[in-house]
Parts: sequence; C-alpha cells; structure tokens
Amino acid sequence: MTDAPPSTLLADQTAYAEAVQLALDAAAAYYRDGTSTLDDDAYDRLVRGIQAYEAEHPDEVLPTSPTGKVAGGAVVGDVPHTVPMLSLDNVFGAEQLADWAASLERRLGRPVTAWSVEPKLDGLAIAARYRGGRLTQLVTRGDGVAGEDVSHAIGTIVGLPARLAEPVTVELRGEVMMTAAQFEQACAKRQAHDGTTFANPRSAAAGTLRAQDRPYVCELTFFGYGALPLPDDSSEPATRLRELAHSEVMGWVAGQGVQTPAVTDVGGIVATSLEQVQERVEQIAAKRADLAFGIDGIVIKCDLAADQAQAGFSSRAPRWAIAYKLPATEKITKLIGVEWNTGRTGIIAPRAVLEPVELDGSVVTYATLHNVADITRRGLMLGDSVTVYKAGDVIPRVEAPVVHLRTGDERPIEIPQACPSCGDAIDSSQERWRCVRGRQCRAIASIAYAVGRDTLDIEGLAENRIQQMLDAGLIVDFADLFFLTREQLLDLERMGETSTDNLLAAIERAKGQPLSRVFCALGVRGTGRSMSRRIARHFGSMDAIRTADAEAIQAVEGIGPEKSPVVVAELIELADLIDKLVKAGVTMTEPGWTPPADPGADPEASDTSALPLAGMSVVVTGAMSGALEALSRNQMNELIERAGGKSSSSVSAKTSLLVAGEKAGSKRTKAESLGVRIVAPEEFAELVGPYIP
Ligand code: IVH
Repeated sequence: MTDAPPSTLLADQTAYAEAVQLALDAAAAYYRDGTSTLDDDAYDRLVRGIQAYEAEHPDEVLPTSPTGKVAGGAVVGDVPHTVPMLSLDNVFGAEQLADWAASLERRLGRPVTAWSVEPKLDGLAIAARYRGGRLTQLVTRGDGVAGEDVSHAIGTIVGLPARLAEPVTVELRGEVMMTAAQFEQACAKRQAHDGTTFANPRSAAAGTLRAQDRPYVCELTFFGYGALPLPDDSSEPATRLRELAHSEVMGWVAGQGVQTPAVTDVGGIVATSLEQVQERVEQIAAKRADLAFGIDGIVIKCDLAADQAQAGFSSRAPRWAIAYKLPATEKITKLIGVEWNTGRTGIIAPRAVLEPVELDGSVVTYATLHNVADITRRGLMLGDSVTVYKAGDVIPRVEAPVVHLRTGDERPIEIPQACPSCGDAIDSSQERWRCVRGRQCRAIASIAYAVGRDTLDIEGLAENRIQQMLDAGLIVDFADLFFLTREQLLDLERMGETSTDNLLAAIERAKGQPLSRVFCALGVRGTGRSMSRRIARHFGSMDAIRTADAEAIQAVEGIGPEKSPVVVAELIELADLIDKLVKAGVTMTEPGWTPPADPGADPEASDTSALPLAGMSVVVTGAMSGALEALSRNQMNELIERAGGKSSSSVSAKTSLLVAGEKAGSKRTKAESLGVRIVAPEEFAELVGPYIP
C-alpha cells in the first residue's frame, strides 16, 4: 500500500479546463448508469490533478470543477434528502491515516475514544425510508442534496425487508450492490434477452436499480451502514437512536431484520487504538479476494455520537469518518490482440493480449478469455476498451467490452478455422474447442508433463529427447516409454551407454510411483496434482476409478456435476493408454489406502484423526530448509496430506497453519494479518517427522 498516489499533471489552463470537463463527463456517466469512461483509478488521478492545479491557481478555479462536490457535481435528483447524503474523504495508506487521525484529534482537543472499522462496500448509496416500520421509498444519493426516486426496486433487494421488526419511522442508509452470484445471474438474463452482458457488478447494480421497464428482473443486495431518524422526530426511540454509538446503531439495524456487514467475514469492529484500526484494515484487505461482493476500501468512523457531533462536517464529507482506499482490482485497458494456443490435452484456448495495465500490485499484459463462445457472447472486438479483473492470486480475466467507448475502428476477432498447432481440423461440438487429434496434437507437451518431477519423475528425459523418440516412431504416448529396449535407445543419436542405462533405470523406478502420480501423469482435463491425489485417495485403485460413473466421481471433494462427466469421458479416451500402463507393470494402487468407512463400519477402520495434521489446512511458502530442503512444493503437499492435513496454495481465514521458509512474501503477511499460526520448516519437520520421504 503506497501512501502517495499519483495524480494527472496539468500543464496549463487549457489542460485544466479539459480535465474538469472530462471528470464531469465521467462522473455523470458513472452516477447515471455506472458506465464511466474512466476506471476508478484514472478518475481519482484526474481529480487529484485538478485539485493540485487549483491549489496553485486559486483564481482560475472553474465553477463546474468536481472538487469539493458530492458525486463530482454531476447528478441532480428531484427527491430532497432530509439530511444531506455526503461523500467520504480518502486516504491511501497507514501514514495518511495516522495524519488524518492526528488532525481530527487536534480539532477535538482530545483523543478519539473508539473507532468503528468496517468495509467500504462498492455499490451505490441509497436511502431507504421506513414509515411505521414499512418500506415506503427508495432514493439514490444524487448530488447529495436531492436524489432520484427508485422505489420501483422495492421487493428486488435482498437484505432490505418490506417491514422492520418494530413499527419505527426511520431512514436507513447503505449500499446497494450485486454479489458475484447475482452478477452472474444478471449477465445470463441480459445475455438471453439482448446478447450483451454487464461490464462489472457495480455498473450492473447501477443499471438495474434505475431500470423500470426491463422484461427481466435482476436481484440486488443491500448492506446498511447507518440509520437516521427524521430531523423533526423528537420521539423517545428517535432521541435514543441519535445518542447511540455507531456500533450500537448497526446492532439495532440488524435487529430490525436488515442486512449489515456483520453477516460477512468483514463485519464492523470497534477499535480503541490506531494500531487496532490498522490491524483490522489489513485483515479486511487480506480477505478481499475471497469475498462474494466487491469492496473498494475500509471506512473508519468515530464510534461515539459525541465525537461525531463535535467533529462535524465539511461541505462534501463528514470530518468524523475516512475511506481507506484499497488498490483497484478492475481497470479499463485496450484489447490489442488474441492469441490461440493448443494445450497438452488438445484444447484450443484464446488468450487476450492487453495494453499493459497495473492491477493489484502487478502489471497485466495477458488475460484469460475462456473460449470462443465466451468471446461471441460478450461481443468482444479487437481494439475494444475492456474491463480487466485481477485480485490476489487469481488469473487476470477480461470481463467485458466497454461498448460506449467504441470509436468505430474496432475489428472482429479472427476465430481459427484449423488447429493453431498442427493445422488439423477443430472439433467445435463442445464449448471448449479441441484439435481433432486430441492429445496426439501436442504429444510432446503431454509426455513432458507425464514424466515431470511432480508426476512420474523420470530424470534425463528432456523435451528434445522426447521429440527424438516421437520422430523415430518409438513412442506415441508416455506409456510406450515402459516398453523401450536398450537397443532402441542406443540407436538414437547422442545416446551413449551410460545415459541409456540411467534412463532405463529411471523408467523402471517410475513404475513404482503411487497411483496419485500415475493418475496425474494421465493429464485428465480438469485434474491437477492435488485433485489427482484426492481422486487416488478416494478410490484407492485405477480399477475403482475406471468403474466409477459420473455420480461416484462427484463424491470426490472439489468435483462438481460439470467436471465429473469430463473425467469419465477422459478415462474412456485414455483407456488404451491406461491398459498399456497396466501391461507394463506400473503401480495402479495408492500405498497405505484404506477404504472410506461406511457409516455402519468400525469407526477405527480409516480413522485419520490420530495423524499429526488431522483436520488442518496447511499452506507452504518460501524456501524450505533442514530436513525439508530437497522437497519440491508438490512433495511438500504430498507430505501434508500423508500426515492427515489438507494442502492449499493460498492463505485464507480457513488456513490452520502456514509453513514459511526464507523469502516468504505476501502469503506470510496475509497469514500474520489473519492471525494464522506460522511455523518455520524445521518446526514443521518435527511435527510430521515420520512422514518425511
Ligand atoms: S458512511 C456521510 N460507510 O462510500 C457519509 N459509507 O465514497 C457516510 N460507502 O457515499 C458514509 N461503504 O455510499 C459509509 N461502510 C460504509 C460505506 C460507505 C460504502 C459509500 C457510501 C458513501 C461513499 C463515499
């Protein structure tokens, strides 16, 4: 988190005037229907540039300038707010937060007693007016003084009940947004209707909230962050509500049956020191990528009503609250090309080439485009401005074109007519296109995968050697390796006696690899190393896997109804290869496997609760040392699972233990902020001693 965000540099008065107009247009589009011409980051940069220019040239400030105005001065509505709906000032790091708190405490003349720390929800502000406990009107923020009536949306917003628990008259304020699941549903509905999708959950929520005559209805979600009695209401409940601390107000709101962030993993907390505030900021930031809804920061508020009253407001924002902004996870950039590659299973996958853009700490130049159907569904074109999403460890993906930014110069994306690797035909009967030659198309890649260190671990079999064997017709798949003779190998160029014997010995050793690795070597679509281990542990033998139907395969953790038929179909496709492996004497069972206990059986039969890592989810990061020094990441994961644990590649609130070696980076920081137990490799080695290979 950097403390000094960049701003657009404005050289002269003309540049300043242009910047003001650009910001105004962007804000107008953003608050109208979420279709901004700039992403959040670019807009913030522009406004900071305008602010900097105005600070140096106070006599040139334009009346239309967005600075100091709610919603950038862009929108007006016709429903007056009882109490203005303001904005929040921003900070971008711990140092700025400390400066802000210090200046607030100077203003108060005393320390702030308690802080409330909660997520900054990335949606649209709304005022929900209840009379006698009934929801009567919904109003958008507008320019903060007056907003738009969107009462037609009543009944479509999860978390905002038509009736409160008590017959109170109160205005609830909060954010309307779409969860990831609601966004997917909304995109599917719009797709079915007019063939387009929404650019992101925020603009989908904005458009949906205002839409009155759509033939389809999309669901929204509300999270409350405040409650105000009417200004002239001097009844006892209203007076009491005004005197409650913010955290108590939120408790009351939840008690009325309204959703608040308390139901999420990032609910509000009360902190009594700035250190605690910062700790919670880091915790919320660490959980961001795992949340089912968007947050763009953390809001820090004075908790006590007395502190808030004394701090007061500026024209734009309360002085008792601040938004701690997190780096953007979505930006707009240009789609400059699409590359098509055939993978080792023959799948033909498109990849977006982007104008480089910085997102969540790294520069993104390529992003996933899924498949051809996805490209046509979204109506993507070359040269389009596209929204790109990336957060945490996820692979960056292109979300959608920003259709209103089209210039007319966009060109259709060329869809390949033949396999980009071998030129043979394409099987386009499934959503994911495939070369008709399947695995044979990229035999070299699938064999290299099968013999790699984390699978059969056959040393001395580099890609050029595999190519040589393929060219000589000695092998067509990796099972053929087990039938190679000494003479055949000696016949190959640059193959001496020693390397031949070493290779034959390595191939012989590979026959003893456990089923989990043999299965992984098959390269079944949708199953990587850890999934292969789960499948092997579940079924115990290749025979059992091969006789399982789609339903039986779904009993394996992480395999759903979409993946299971693919696994079944893949095993049929791979039948000849598996038969060859069996014939060669390759291991087809998982060592130490016991059948899963059936409910009536002896509970001791497959009891893993005595294992040292039973019930634990373990993540490994950094360089291993001591007894674990030589282990690859995959071997570490195998070790964790032998010792009864679950291995995982990313730290989350569910992680029980992080094994952190030298040079551990962001995973360690994340574990620290989540309070996850961290051990050094040496300490971990003691814990799992008997299971180390
Ligand atoms: S409190 C007087 N709390 O962020 C303004 N706002 O950028 C008090 N927002 O207009 C607002 N999450 O729409 C508050 N937990 C939260 C929030 C939150 C999101 C929005 C809100 C506000 C905007 C300012």
